[in-house]
Amino acid sequence: MKPELLAKYGRRVPRYTSYPTAPHFHTGVGADTYARWLDEIPSDTRLSLYVHVPFCDSLCWFCGCHTKIVKRYAPVARYLGLLRREIDLVAEGLIFRLPVSHIHWGGGSPNILAPQDVEGLADTLRQRFDILPDAEFAVEIDPRGLSPALVEALARSGINRVSLGVQDLNPEVQRAVNRRQPLEVTAKAINRLRGAGIDAINIDLMYGLPYQTVKRMSRTVEAVLGLDARRLAVFGYAHVPWMKTHQRLIDEAALPTPAERLAQFEAAAGRLEDAGYVAIGLDHFADPEDALAVARREGRLRRNFQGYTTDDAPVLLGFGASAISALPQGYVQNTTSIHAYREAIDRGGFAAARGIVLGDEDRLRRAVIERLMCDLGVDLAELCRRYGRTPDHFAAELAALVPMAADGLLTVEDNRIRVSLEARPFLRTVCSAFDIYLQGGETRHAQAV
Ligand SMILES: C[S@@+](CC[C@H](N)C(=O)[O-])C[C@H]1O[C@@H](n2cnc3c(N)ncnc32)[C@H](O)[C@@H]1O
Ligand code: SF4
Repeated sequence: MKPELLAKYGRRVPRYTSYPTAPHFHTGVGADTYARWLDEIPSDTRLSLYVHVPFCDSLCWFCGCHTKIVKRYAPVARYLGLLRREIDLVAEGLIFRLPVSHIHWGGGSPNILAPQDVEGLADTLRQRFDILPDAEFAVEIDPRGLSPALVEALARSGINRVSLGVQDLNPEVQRAVNRRQPLEVTAKAINRLRGAGIDAINIDLMYGLPYQTVKRMSRTVEAVLGLDARRLAVFGYAHVPWMKTHQRLIDEAALPTPAERLAQFEAAAGRLEDAGYVAIGLDHFADPEDALAVARREGRLRRNFQGYTTDDAPVLLGFGASAISALPQGYVQNTTSIHAYREAIDRGGFAAARGIVLGDEDRLRRAVIERLMCDLGVDLAELCRRYGRTPDHFAAELAALVPMAADGLLTVEDNRIRVSLEARPFLRTVCSAFDIYLQGGETRHAQAV
């Protein structure tokens, strides 16, 4: 990819894990709306459940997640009690006991929970929902300090997929982001997980970190290949110190330039593809036999708040501070403050604080953006037909894409857009042409590449 295209298209754009994106949620949608939407869910609707655990042992300075550093277990135990009450409350708000095909515990680091609490939380979910026998049950894990007892608890709880944060293995990079994690720590965690029967292992890497170079990125990828993960994510470091003030601890002078970031991503992607992984969307790579690669081949890939997924449940219910629920009617997000979350649950109410109602135009644009993000292509005429619009509905958007087509990043033929694999770093910029909420909101996001 030519670096000069970065200046042209490397804008600040969202990652499109939803559309409309979370900055456009507003307080006009809250607990009452959520209660009504839950009430309207028809019987036998399959659910996906997301549980947010916003705690970690130590702070990685790059962290963009909703998390809090705790040195004692008491706040975690207290939060767990609230989570279980919220799960009860939401289950009681549903008219039917519903089947669940996907569960995801994210964070923070859900493995901060004590082993008995991992099992207790899983039990609460089982008591309240019908977890389908073939459900995917995934958990995000910080490999540092993953004890054998915790691994046993994860396995006994039915967890069958884990994502491990690795980021970069170079000691200077690790020092610069306050995350010391030699390869052996990750390898030991994976051996323990596999020993307990959890062999669907995902690994998160990052590019664009301070002192990262193409050489260091390549070495990290080379070493990580030996861990034989089923999926890898290669996330671009989103540096947003105006939102995540602790990122000011990172020396900006040590951050790679956009051109270096692009080269780092391309080095990682090239090596992973050479090793046989299939490129998935913006930043994922999967073993060709993994469900994610199969879904990609069959056009069934989805995108949600956790990134790329095979999860096709029509309703996602989020539990915990900052968790987002996606229902056919719209999105609802719980309050992000743990304090406000506790107050809401203690009062016996929902913790929903913001959200957005979806209109028909939102649904159409969401479908366009999701197909682009997942398939690197979209048949606009087909989607316009499905949503009752004329084929020329996106004439202005297609006109806006002409320069990108002229630069060889994409083709448009018969209302079909195809983004080339090499132009993947600009995928979010392509999607942004269809985002009618974006005008004026650019600076709130991280740069595209
Ligand atoms: C919740 S963490 C994963 C589990 C665990 N907390 C850990 O870090 O090992 C999710 C992932 O988000 C990615 N991430 C965190 N902050 C980021 C940022 N500012 N920009 C891009 N990716 C980020 C990291 O790759 C991290 O592994
Ligand atoms: S990257 Fe993971 S371990 Fe590090 S602070 Fe963020 S959530 Fe916690």
